Amino acid sequence: MATLASGHTAKVIEGSEKAKLTEDFPGFKKGWVRLFPGGWLLSRPFCKVADKLYNFEFRKDDVLVMSWPKCGTTWTQELVWTMRNSPNLDHPDAGLVIMNRVPFMEADMFAEESPKEDPSPVSETFKKLCPNGDPRDGMNYQLAQAIPDPRTLKTHLAFSLFAPSLLEKTKVVYVARNPKDIVLSFLHHHKLFKEMSFNGSLEAFVEYFLQDDLLYGPYWLHLREAWQKRGHPNLHIVFYEDLKADVMRELKRLDDFLGTGLSHDQLANVAKHASFDEMKASDSLMIGKYVINQEVLEKDGGFFRQGKSGDWKNKLTPDLIDKMDQWIAQKCDFGISFK
Ligand code: A3P
Repeated sequence: MATLASGHTAKVIEGSEKAKLTEDFPGFKKGWVRLFPGGWLLSRPFCKVADKLYNFEFRKDDVLVMSWPKCGTTWTQELVWTMRNSPNLDHPDAGLVIMNRVPFMEADMFAEESPKEDPSPVSETFKKLCPNGDPRDGMNYQLAQAIPDPRTLKTHLAFSLFAPSLLEKTKVVYVARNPKDIVLSFLHHHKLFKEMSFNGSLEAFVEYFLQDDLLYGPYWLHLREAWQKRGHPNLHIVFYEDLKADVMRELKRLDDFLGTGLSHDQLANVAKHASFDEMKASDSLMIGKYVINQEVLEKDGGFFRQGKSGDWKNKLTPDLIDKMDQWIAQKCDFGISFK
């Protein structure tokens, strides 16, 4: 057991719980830890970066895009970055890989210990921006420090894993999505990436989600922590469903929050640039060939899978819908009703 700067106790998952996770997620070789209080389930190497992230020096011009996985974080980070850096679509980095301009703060907890056959986009950017940095100290963390202002950063960690002063220091855009769509998107993610290679059924995966046993842990606690802060002037909450329904309205709200003062035409540029089809075209740049299961890619799509809301109505069985509805009714007692 280790105690982190956030005050959490990290307990390494062992025994039968580890054996079950290892059997169902055979690609995941790094081990798991659970943090208390909260029960956040994270990759074991998270403990190496936890304190650095907790003590990360945010600046007032930073924008941190935060969400539980599969809520549309990548879409939102691209919208935010483009609004702030390239509303006329003329920034020289606009064509680069998304994650190179918006560092994924805790991604070092997934980093491979041994080198891969082809260099990752992150390692290339790392060499450029941190020429004296040691990759073993966490490339993503160092990139988050090194990218030029104004920085747009991304995390799937919850508020409680950052210092309580976070919102006093910087703006946060929090993205939420209907958990019935999240679970399908996350299932795809766990099949697509070799480092997960989930080999169970949809029913088993839903059960993992409902029991808070997927990486990143309790969905409702993550959302609740953000929702409780919703009146804070430095916090902006956006729903995936609202982005899908009327992206221009949501961009206008974001424009007010970020203070970017963009014209209608500039917002329309941003919306088009970050449309699903445009972003999907960069799928092969986002993820190296060696990290994905090719047959899943061909059958069900890549990182940018389908970009729809409400597909759970077609994919979840009546039993699973019933189960999830009961879970939502029990857990979501703080006034959100998903579209
Ligand atoms: P689906 O798997 O349902 O298609 P995250 O970035 O948080 O991991 O979320 C990924 C989800 O957002 C995926 O959902 C992905 O396709 C969707 N997404 C990414 N870019 C999008 C865009 N420009 N428009 C709509 N959905 C997008």
